[in-house]
Amino acid sequence: MRLRLKFSIIISFVCSFVFSQNNSFVPGKQWKDTDGVHINAHGGGILFVDGTYYWYGEYKTSGRAGNVSLEGISCYTSKDLYNWHNEGIVLKVEQDGNSEITKGCVMERPKVIFNKKTGQYVMWFHLELKGQGYNAAKAAVAISDSPKGPFKFKKSYRPNKGVWPIDFKDEFKTAANNEAGLKSWSPEWLTAIKNGMLVRKDFNKGQMARDMTVYVDDDEKAYLIHSSEENLTLHISELTDDYLDFTEKWTRMAPAGHNEAPAIFKKDGIYYMITSGCTGWDPNEARSFSAKSIWGPWEPLGNPCVGKDASLTFHSQSTYILPVEGKKDEFIFMADRWKPENAIEGSYVWLPISFSNGKPVLKWFDKWNLTAFTENQ
Ligand code: DGJ
Repeated sequence: MRLRLKFSIIISFVCSFVFSQNNSFVPGKQWKDTDGVHINAHGGGILFVDGTYYWYGEYKTSGRAGNVSLEGISCYTSKDLYNWHNEGIVLKVEQDGNSEITKGCVMERPKVIFNKKTGQYVMWFHLELKGQGYNAAKAAVAISDSPKGPFKFKKSYRPNKGVWPIDFKDEFKTAANNEAGLKSWSPEWLTAIKNGMLVRKDFNKGQMARDMTVYVDDDEKAYLIHSSEENLTLHISELTDDYLDFTEKWTRMAPAGHNEAPAIFKKDGIYYMITSGCTGWDPNEARSFSAKSIWGPWEPLGNPCVGKDASLTFHSQSTYILPVEGKKDEFIFMADRWKPENAIEGSYVWLPISFSNGKPVLKWFDKWNLTAFTENQ
């Protein structure tokens, strides 16, 4: 009798383990971690270290208030990309009201990279100071000796203070007479933005940094790609060799193009970027670009999404593009389906990237797994 009881306990344990395993991606639906709880890692990015994927993201809490950072940045680990184990909060908000990352600040879109020279894991994120809305517009950096953290907050920046972009015309370095009075969104105002009106405005203070990602190139040089100039223009800023500061080499991308949510990847020596427009938490139509050099020129390639809801990026907004480890040309588009009214419920839209006529293409799948790449090419 006792033997039979033991046997049935073991069988039910094995069954619950086997059947609770995920073996596919189900975009936009609840995604349970290995504890059976919906994954809480929004605006995230992924780092691969020694056979393990680390997913870092914004840890949201319930209600509208849960859009600000009450806990910090979370981390989940996985070996197969389907099943994720919660590693907890790896960068905690601080209780000290004078800290820049005090509870109630805004910490968004964290991305972690590894620095081979220093052996440190470096996290960059978008930081807004408590009670100041989105006005601070800062990029912040934290470090750890382990991908599992804990990360220690180091510094926040307004990037590229007192330096012009590499390809900035001399005539743009001084303000045109009438520009202060131009009507927002008028053709003259858009031209003034393209010609660097907001770069000049923030020249002494440092440039704005809101939505962002970080990219490490094949030569180990790293770049922060951030929405700047009131989200009107993306900036690409080279990081120092330790990845903790800026070299002062930077460029503007798609001036006055109003891009957020940058995500970048490289295939066959070409850089591709997928971004969104700017409509707060609401989804809009994605954009894509390609360039032979990270410094541009960046050619617009249009909306990468096709099919139903392509004009709303399938009700999501880009956050990261993940190269599947050990697989040439397999890239996963990662996006957030935000739920601002109950932040914790936001879900994730992961889709395989295919290519057509040299352009990245995103098709909707209700459910898919990694075999989609071979079927999809
Ligand atoms: C859109 C951005 O992409 C998000 O990261 C977040 O900052 C929201 N705006 C806030 O409204």
